[in-house]
Amino acid sequence: MSADHSLGARSRRPTIGVFDSGFGGLTVLKALLELIPGADYAYFGDTARLPYGSKSVETVARYAVEAAHYLESHGAQMLVIACNTATALALDRITAAAHVPVVGVIEPGAEAAAAATKNQKIVVIGTEATVSSHAYRKALEARGLHAREKACPLLVPLVEEGWVEHSVTEQVARIYLGEAFADGFREADTLVLGCTHYPLLKPLLHRVTPGHVSIVDSAESTARAVASRLQQLVPATVDAEERRALPRLKFFATDSVEKFRRLGERFLGHPIEDVQHVDLKE
Ligand code: DGL
Repeated sequence: MSADHSLGARSRRPTIGVFDSGFGGLTVLKALLELIPGADYAYFGDTARLPYGSKSVETVARYAVEAAHYLESHGAQMLVIACNTATALALDRITAAAHVPVVGVIEPGAEAAAAATKNQKIVVIGTEATVSSHAYRKALEARGLHAREKACPLLVPLVEEGWVEHSVTEQVARIYLGEAFADGFREADTLVLGCTHYPLLKPLLHRVTPGHVSIVDSAESTARAVASRLQQLVPATVDAEERRALPRLKFFATDSVEKFRRLGERFLGHPIEDVQHVDLKE
């Protein structure tokens, strides 16, 4: 895969803007690259202002709208809000402010949970802000499902520390999930990973959840939702050769470029080359 400063300028291939508070949304970018290699991507990680998961609706909405405008001004023809917290708190505000289609992660995640469950009982884990918004519970209840939401605030820093297979993380996850899969939700059969960082913990989470539980991560279902919206956007004139070209990737980060490269590679699963620092004025 190559990086190119003229992203979107020479090609008629669509450019998809992907936004997250930091590195975690790269798990969504990874799913997008697998499913939609015929597009170019601009990824914005608001690393200077993360975490979003402990912030207010007003603050998250303001930050997310600024990032959305930035990606649009860099040629994004569609926006993917990979951050669960930003989707939960501000999808309406981002959609109203944007001039291009916007896809969040919560509806696709709820859709995937509805497809996975057999007994209609779902546990969702996420940040404090996502859980307090009840965005997942509303999306799941709208599909006739019962949901319990559980905030797991310690998991994001543990993943960023690289402790994805650490005994401390396992102990913390065991406590959170023990509390979530209790009482009326002891027999829940589906666990939704409602935070960008949790897919990295999948093997550990499998170990600490009851054996009958399926784990749903919204990255793949979000990529499918993007693919179907994209069909309306891609000009019929894009020829086969253009579709076959490798995706061009450009990354924007509001904090250290070097740290973005280093941590980002863990989430994306391959080296990150072209990162540009962005200074968003308050
Ligand atoms: N990206 C956030 C989410 O998916 C997690 C990190 C943060 O709190 O900013 O909710």
